[in-house]
Amino acid sequence: MNSLNHIFENNSNWAQIISEEDPDFFKELSKGQAPEILWIGCSDSRVPPNQIMGLSPGDVFVHRNIANVVVHTDLNSLSVIQYAVEVLKVKHVIVCGHYGCGGIKAAIDDQNHGLIDNWLRHIKDVSRFNADSLKALSEEEQISKLCELNVIEQVKNVCGTTIIHDAWKQGQALTVHGWIYALSNGMLKNLDVSISSPGEFESLMASENEQ
Ligand code: CO
Repeated sequence: MNSLNHIFENNSNWAQIISEEDPDFFKELSKGQAPEILWIGCSDSRVPPNQIMGLSPGDVFVHRNIANVVVHTDLNSLSVIQYAVEVLKVKHVIVCGHYGCGGIKAAIDDQNHGLIDNWLRHIKDVSRFNADSLKALSEEEQISKLCELNVIEQVKNVCGTTIIHDAWKQGQALTVHGWIYALSNGMLKNLDVSISSPGEFESLMASENEQ
């Protein structure tokens, strides 16, 4: 009946190991969370945030969707960002994409994928915004480049929310980062688009015409 019994066994072993290492771990964590990081990443099963950053339960507040997209009016991602910034007072928002992202590939392969094509329109927009820098590349290079450009675009979208602006206006220390993860070797790369103030955000927006 239950083919997932091994997961309960894994869970029991895991909880036991943690408790042996730190008998108060779960008791302390059950009192509340104070993560310093909000992770906005892809739903891809190969990119589990805590695991690839070597962090523990309680360290990261997480939002994931297909192709790590932050849509201006998406109440789901906006609610996560608001709670993380206003209530949890995270210090870092990390938008992390990954090379070989199926969502990015599907956005530009001109095939029909059903409902998800509506979500992937946002990636098509990123492709259109950057058509000049993409057209000289091979198909494989285009996908990798678009994975990076999509992260940068979503960093801009995060920074453009009223939530981040209000936090900066109130002097809250908050940095929005753009990272990308390589499935092929497990390594994270910083795309160097870290934004900590309205001035830095304006500079990033102004640079988009120079790419
Ligand atoms: Co993906």
